[in-house]
Amino acid sequence: MIKMLHSGWAYITLIILIFAVVNAIIGLNSKKEFTDKDLRISLFTLIVAHIQLIIGFIAFFVSAQFEYVLDNGMGAAMKEPAIRLFVVEHPLMMILAITLITMGFSKHKKQNTDKGKFKTIALYYGLGLLFVLSRIPWSQWLSF
Ligand code: HEM
Repeated sequence: MIKMLHSGWAYITLIILIFAVVNAIIGLNSKKEFTDKDLRISLFTLIVAHIQLIIGFIAFFVSAQFEYVLDNGMGAAMKEPAIRLFVVEHPLMMILAITLITMGFSKHKKQNTDKGKFKTIALYYGLGLLFVLSRIPWSQWLSF
């Protein structure tokens, strides 16, 4: 159940994150005013990403990969690329990605100009997106 939720929510997270980055880049390039709509897009993305983080933690503790660590130890898990991906690489990169998104949201509020706000969102959310894209288990995710 949790695995399905984590897998399904990942679509929403990815789509809204791409949308927020594209929206910020368009806003920056067209020198638009940073409106309430832009704030809501950034905030909604932050919330969706945090929900995915929580689901991810639950998915982690009920996963076969975590059970493998409990049974065989961390050393053995690190030697298995398929296990290491879900025990270390994927969670670490996703936590970093969501940290970047959170920093971006908090820093954009301190900017006084529309350009500064769009630029901060584009940069931090954009980096977060790259981190997410780099460690999504694509073949497993899209295999059904
Ligand atoms: C933006 C954040 C995240 C995204 C977009 C994301 C995305 C995904 C995707 C697409 C899968 C493959 C699902 C499938 O096979 O159908 C997956 C699996 C997994 N994720 Fe995440 N994830 C995120 C955060 C996290 C975090 C923070 C953790 C742990 C702390 C985590 C732990 C796991 C685990 C353990 C699996 C494997 C589940 C299994 O095969 O039993 N994820 N994730």
